[in-house]
Amino acid sequence: MTLIKNMVGRKIVMSITGLALVSFVCIHLLGNISLFSGPDGINAYAKMLHSLGPFLWVVRLIMAAALGLHMVFGILLTLENRTSRAQKYAVNKHLSATVAGKNMIWTGLLIALYLGYHLLHFTGQMIMPEFSSSRNLDALGRPDVFSMVVHSFQHTVVSVVYVTAMAAVGLHLSHGLQSMVQTLGLNNERTLPVMVKVGAAAALVLFLGYAAIPAGIVSRLVGR
Ligand code: HEM
Repeated sequence: MTLIKNMVGRKIVMSITGLALVSFVCIHLLGNISLFSGPDGINAYAKMLHSLGPFLWVVRLIMAAALGLHMVFGILLTLENRTSRAQKYAVNKHLSATVAGKNMIWTGLLIALYLGYHLLHFTGQMIMPEFSSSRNLDALGRPDVFSMVVHSFQHTVVSVVYVTAMAAVGLHLSHGLQSMVQTLGLNNERTLPVMVKVGAAAALVLFLGYAAIPAGIVSRLVGR
């Protein structure tokens, strides 16, 4: 209880939940990138996910709890940082001076908005239901996730929304990854500049990986 009442404790909760979320983002990208190899990869991946049954729901609940905690503590930390600047420690001041560091709350809220839209789109399948993978099956009788994603991203507006959201994810992670390493004490004064670069590079790779999907579809590199 005391852990979550003090600022360092909250930052530890933010780091651990952030680590869980970024792990999901990496695994999700590996699954989605299989779109480039045609329908087989992503349709098999989606079928495998759904065959996990109750286990999938356990993972979903854990991830939802991690996201909820991350958001609540993120909002609390931002409000506290604004009212009690004296509690900020020196290295944090240096890290927060970047565009990404100054806008964590805004990129975070944009990602939350995007996530709501994304879940309604591809999980709830309430947006563009005509392309829904539960209505349209592939030649092997599996939900056709490939066609659902391709048809959706062929609408340039949808692709622009996704690329914008991916930019927010990249910016958020470019600061978040360094901040996490620092909070968990995995760096020192000497390694900090290296960690800053590694965090930014990892965030850039994730942004490029995700943005490549709508870009590949709009440019007709992917699709049929
Ligand atoms: C080009 C980018 C992306 C594509 C093509 C994509 C595609 C998909 C698809 C097809 C599903 C539904 C899977 C299924 O139930 O069959 C899904 C679910 C999901 N996506 Fe994405 N996604 C993208 C980016 C992201 C990002 C950046 C995040 C996180 C910030 C994210 C978070 C989620 C979550 C939380 C789910 C729900 C997983 C579940 O059903 O348990 N996605 N995505």
